Amino acid sequence: MKVGIVGSGGREHALCAILKKSNKINEIYCFPGNAGTSNIAQNIDLNSNNFEDLKNFILKKEIDLIIIGPEKPLVEGIVDYFEKHNIKVFGPDKIAAQLEGSKIFTKKICQKFKIPTAKFGIFQNKKDSKKFLENWSYPAVIKADNLASGKGVYICDNLKDSDTAINEIFDGKFGVAKNILIEEFLEGEEMSFFIISDGKTFKCFGTAQDHKRVFEGDKGKNTGGMGAYSPSRLFSKKLEEKIIKKIIKPTILGLSELGSNYKGFLYAGLMIVNNEPYLIEYNVRMGDPECQTILPRLKSDLAMIIDSCCNEKLDRMSIEWEDNKSLCVVLCAKGYPDSFKKETEIPNLDNILVNTDDYLFHAGTKKINDKILVNGGRVLNFVSVSDNFYDARKKVHKIIEKVNWTDGFYRKDIGYKVIDK
Ligand code: AMP
Ligand code: GLY
Repeated sequence: MKVGIVGSGGREHALCAILKKSNKINEIYCFPGNAGTSNIAQNIDLNSNNFEDLKNFILKKEIDLIIIGPEKPLVEGIVDYFEKHNIKVFGPDKIAAQLEGSKIFTKKICQKFKIPTAKFGIFQNKKDSKKFLENWSYPAVIKADNLASGKGVYICDNLKDSDTAINEIFDGKFGVAKNILIEEFLEGEEMSFFIISDGKTFKCFGTAQDHKRVFEGDKGKNTGGMGAYSPSRLFSKKLEEKIIKKIIKPTILGLSELGSNYKGFLYAGLMIVNNEPYLIEYNVRMGDPECQTILPRLKSDLAMIIDSCCNEKLDRMSIEWEDNKSLCVVLCAKGYPDSFKKETEIPNLDNILVNTDDYLFHAGTKKINDKILVNGGRVLNFVSVSDNFYDARKKVHKIIEKVNWTDGFYRKDIGYKVIDK
C-alpha cells in the first residue's frame, strides 16, 4: 500500500515512523513532512492548504490512502474534497470538523444531548458580554469561537482581565468574531482521551496528559505542548465507561443527525471533577505531542487499523496496547512560544538513540544540503517507554543531554504529577 500523510510536525513524523513498521506499507509520502520524515519517507514540497495540487499529485502517483494530521485542512474540508475525487482519506468531514473549528458548535451539541460541560453563555457583542459578567463570581473562561491554535482561551480572575479578553476577541485578534463564549471555570484535573472511528464503530485509542504551559510547574504562556505522558494517571475502566456513555456516544449521535458519520481520530479534552468527566473541547485529530507519546505503546498494526477505518471495518480489528508507560519531552527553540531564531543548525543527531524503546521524532525541522535546520518553535520530540514513568523520563533526559545544541530548551518536569509526588 502507498500512503500519504498531510502535515509537518512531530505528530506526522510519529505516524510515519509507526506506519513504516507495517509490512502492508511499501511507500510513504509526506506533504510536506520535516527533516525526520525525509529519512524514512518521500517529502513532497506541496502546500497542504492547496487541495488541488495535493489531489493532482496523489492521483498521479496512485497513492492508496491519505491521512490528515493537522486541524486546519480538516476544518477547511480537505476530506470532502478528496472524497469527491475518489481518494481514500482518513479524517473527519467538514461538518464533523466543526467540533474543533467552532467551540460554539460543540457547545450546542452538548446542550442538545446533555453532555456534561462547563456552563456557558454565547454573546454577539462587547456590551452584552460585559453585562453578563457584571455579577459573575470569578474566575471566568472566555473563548474565541474560531480556530486559534490554542491561543483563543482566556482564564480571567477579575473584571479587568475579562474586559481585555472581550475587547481583544471582538477587535479581531483571532479573526472576525461574530460570537464569544463565556464559561464557568471548572476546577479539576485535565485528561486527553482519544478514540478512532470508522463512521459505524469506534474504539478507544489511549489517554494522555500533556503540559501546555511553557515553563516548569505549569507556568507561563500556553504552547502547543511541551511534553506529555501516557496513560493518564486518572484512567480507570469505570471513568472510561462514563466518558463513552456521557460524552463520546451522544456526540457521535449528534453528528450523525447532522449527516456526518465520524471517521478519523477524535480527541476529547476533558476536565475530571470528582471522578466525573466534563468536556472542555474537542480536537478532530490526534494531539501533538500526545500522538508521539501514545503510538509507541501500540502493539497492533497502525496501517491495518487506519485502512480498516476507511473501509468501515474497524469492528473486525482488535487494538492491542503494551502494558507500559510512555513519556515525551519537547525540545524547543529558545524564545518559543514568542519569537525564536529560525534556520539555526541542529548538530548531528545520528547515533544518539541506542534502544528500540527510545524514539526521536522531528517537529520544526527541515533538511537543507544535509544539514538539519530549525523550522518551527517546537523542534524535536524525545520519547521513551518503560515500565514506569520515572525511568522513562530519566532515559529521555539522558538522550537530550547528548544533543549538543545551545539554542534549545526543554521542561525537565514533564510528568511531575506521576513522578515527583
Ligand atoms: P481549550 O483550547 O478549550 O482546550 O482551552 C485551553 C486550556 O484552557 C485547557 O486545556 C484548560 O487548561 C483551560 N480551560 C478551558 N476551558 C476551561 C474551563 N471551563 N475551566 C477550566 N479550565 C479551562
Ligand atoms: N497537545 C494539544 C493539542 O494537540 O491540541
